[in-house]
Amino acid sequence: METIRGKTCILMDLNELHDRLANYNRIILDLGTGDGRYVHSLAERFPADFIIGVDSCRENLHEYSRAKLLNMLFIISNAQSLPCELNGLVSHISINFPWGSLLDGLLTADTSLMRGLERLATSTASIDVHLNGGALADAGWPLENGADKIYYNLLQAGWRVRTPRCMDEDELQVFPTTWARRLAHGRDPRGMKIHS
Ligand SMILES: C[S@@+](CC[C@H](N)C(=O)[O-])C[C@H]1O[C@@H](n2cnc3c(N)ncnc32)[C@H](O)[C@@H]1O
Repeated sequence: METIRGKTCILMDLNELHDRLANYNRIILDLGTGDGRYVHSLAERFPADFIIGVDSCRENLHEYSRAKLLNMLFIISNAQSLPCELNGLVSHISINFPWGSLLDGLLTADTSLMRGLERLATSTASIDVHLNGGALADAGWPLENGADKIYYNLLQAGWRVRTPRCMDEDELQVFPTTWARRLAHGRDPRGMKIHS
């Protein structure tokens, strides 16, 4: 699988991955990580956990992936073809403010996405999804209806999630991703959260 550190792409095999992951409590995966700020923030806050950021777009990852934190890794991958090296390893998945094919995949319960999430997860894994009004509107969905649709798709895929709840401007403001902060100051500062 392809990993990135700064501007350098490095291929990592299963043995190297297992060496990196040894002795950590939980493996947390942030899908559609963007610039990786969220991963960096979790890696600093939870040194006993290993945090992995995945995104299909490498250009945004140059800054945060450069940081010298041993419990952090960034992988370049499409959400619809997640690396099999991670099979059965991930104890928590976050998807924060998805757009494009990642959001479409959640809305349509795309088989390759849903099976990929299931494949990576441990038997007790949890998932958190945060959504925003603008991205859902672009996908043709009102915020609440889109959140409900994704909630039911996750339930059907076997995830134990609670009913969607609103995120207001204040909550977006303190949520540690670049996109949350941008949304909090933007024209449509509304979000929804679906948590395990
Ligand atoms: C609005 S940004 C949110 C970034 C970050 N989670 C945040 O909150 O700041 C959405 C991200 O999803 C990624 N994305 C969209 N479709 C994807 C896919 N099919 N596979 C992987 N990443 C995808 C984009 O490249 C982008 O970085």
